[in-house]
Amino acid sequence: MDLKDIINERYSVRDYLPQKVEESKIKYILECAQLAPSACNLQPWYFYVIESEELRSKVCEAYNREWFKKAPVYIVVCKDTVQSWKRASDGMDSGDIDAAIAAQHICLAVHDAGLGTCWVCNFDLPSLTKSLDIPQNREAIAIFPIGYVDKEKSKILERKRKPINEISEWR
Ligand SMILES: Cc1cc2nc3c(=O)[nH]c(=O)nc-3n(C[C@H](O)[C@H](O)[C@H](O)COP(=O)(O)O)c2cc1C
Repeated sequence: MDLKDIINERYSVRDYLPQKVEESKIKYILECAQLAPSACNLQPWYFYVIESEELRSKVCEAYNREWFKKAPVYIVVCKDTVQSWKRASDGMDSGDIDAAIAAQHICLAVHDAGLGTCWVCNFDLPSLTKSLDIPQNREAIAIFPIGYVDKEKSKILERKRKPINEISEWR
C-alpha cells in the first residue's frame, strides 16, 4: 500500500471484533516501531504487549470505556526518561517526541496489517503504572487497543481537518 493511502485510510477505530490478533502481525507492528527515528538514535522507548485476560482488565481500569474493553490486545508505549536525549542549550527532553514517532509508526502499521487502533492518552497514569509494574525510568505515553475492525459497527467519522492554507505558509 502507498504511504498516502495508509495515512488517508487510517482513522480512530473504536469497534473491534473479539478475534485474536496473530503473533506475526504484532511482530510486524513492533518492527515498524523499532525503525522509528529518535534524537541521537537513543531509542528511548519500551513497548508492553498486553494479551493476558488478567492484565487486559487492569489496563481497562486505567481507561474505563466499553469500546476499549473489546480490543483483544493492547500495546502500551512508554518513553524512557533516563535514556532520552536532553538538549544542552535549554534541557528540552526529547522523550515525548521520540516515543510519539514510534507510536505513530505503530498506528500506521496496524492499519497496514489490516487491523484497527486508536491513540489513547486520556488514561490514568498512576493506575496503569501500578498495575503493569512499570519501572521508574519509564512513563507510559499512549495505549493502542488493537484488533480486527467490526466493519458493521465501525463508522468513519467525517475527517475534519484545517485547510492547508491555515496551517502553513511558504516564505
Ligand atoms: C495524542 C492523542 C491522544 C488521543 N487520545 C485519545 C483518547 O484518549 N481517547 C480517544 O477515544 N481518542 C483519542 N485520540 C484520538 C483522536 O480523538 C483522533 O485521532 C482525532 O479525533 C482525529 O480522528 P481520526 O484519528 O479518526 O482521524 C487521541 C489522538 C491523539 C493523537
